[in-house]
Amino acid sequence: MAILDRHKIIEKNATLLLVLSFLVVSIGGIVQITPLFYLENTIEEVEGVRPYTPLELTGRDIYVREGCYVCHSQMIRPMRDEVERYGHYSLAAESMYDHPFQWGSKRTGPDLARVGGRYSDEWHIDHLRDPQSVVPESIMPKYAFLLDRVIRPDHIADRVRADRMVGVPYDDAMVQNAAADFRTQADLFGDAAGLQERYPGAQLRNFDRQPQLTEMDALIAYLQVLGTMVDFSTFEPDPNR
Ligand code: HEC
Repeated sequence: MAILDRHKIIEKNATLLLVLSFLVVSIGGIVQITPLFYLENTIEEVEGVRPYTPLELTGRDIYVREGCYVCHSQMIRPMRDEVERYGHYSLAAESMYDHPFQWGSKRTGPDLARVGGRYSDEWHIDHLRDPQSVVPESIMPKYAFLLDRVIRPDHIADRVRADRMVGVPYDDAMVQNAAADFRTQADLFGDAAGLQERYPGAQLRNFDRQPQLTEMDALIAYLQVLGTMVDFSTFEPDPNR
């Protein structure tokens, strides 16, 4: 029991115990933290994830401004009840262009990470205008004013540039065409082919069913793309990453 006797020395000396504990914790910390400085990317790249179109990005800003995240998370955890209700669990790559991310910690309403394509645009218009008209027991506030708020792409190029500064891979063409792409996605008269090429899979249509471009267009464009970028019928998680 010689080793236990020696351990007694540490147990009886508070300062020594403190110093040695600190040493052990530091080694543990270094082992975990140092590799992160050498890894180029800690996020598994997944096919299909692209930066938001200018209109989707604007919708996302409206989502943040209106505090939708206060009631809605955007992160499906890999647990059976969540996956059965909301779909495939969220991948890190799916929010890698989100600044800030919208994972959330509160679910007064359902998770929205995969709400894209679940409802029609008309449903979203009705629901946002008056949630109780489609879900009578809903406690979600009304956002009818979004239908009246006309938006212009005056600052969108700067907005895209700001995201580029924090690492979203918007290229020069995306910045130069930001204002045009912003309009084209919802009015279909512009360079739709160019928009599709810059943002593969972008959905092009008049989202709010009104002639003018409104905040409702932008918000619905954003809601309809959520969780739809990755094709889960072909996606295979790589266990080595
Ligand atoms: C006070 C909390 C609250 C806020 C704020 C809120 N919601 Fe909701 N939301 C709910 C609740 C509760 C439901 C479930 C009942 C319903 O469908 O209305 C819901 C449902 C939804 C649904 C349908 C989801 C599904 O899978 O059925 C969408 C889409 C949605 N909200 C979008 C939004 C957006 C966009 C905003 C911000 C503009 C927002 N919500 C703000 C509480 C909220």
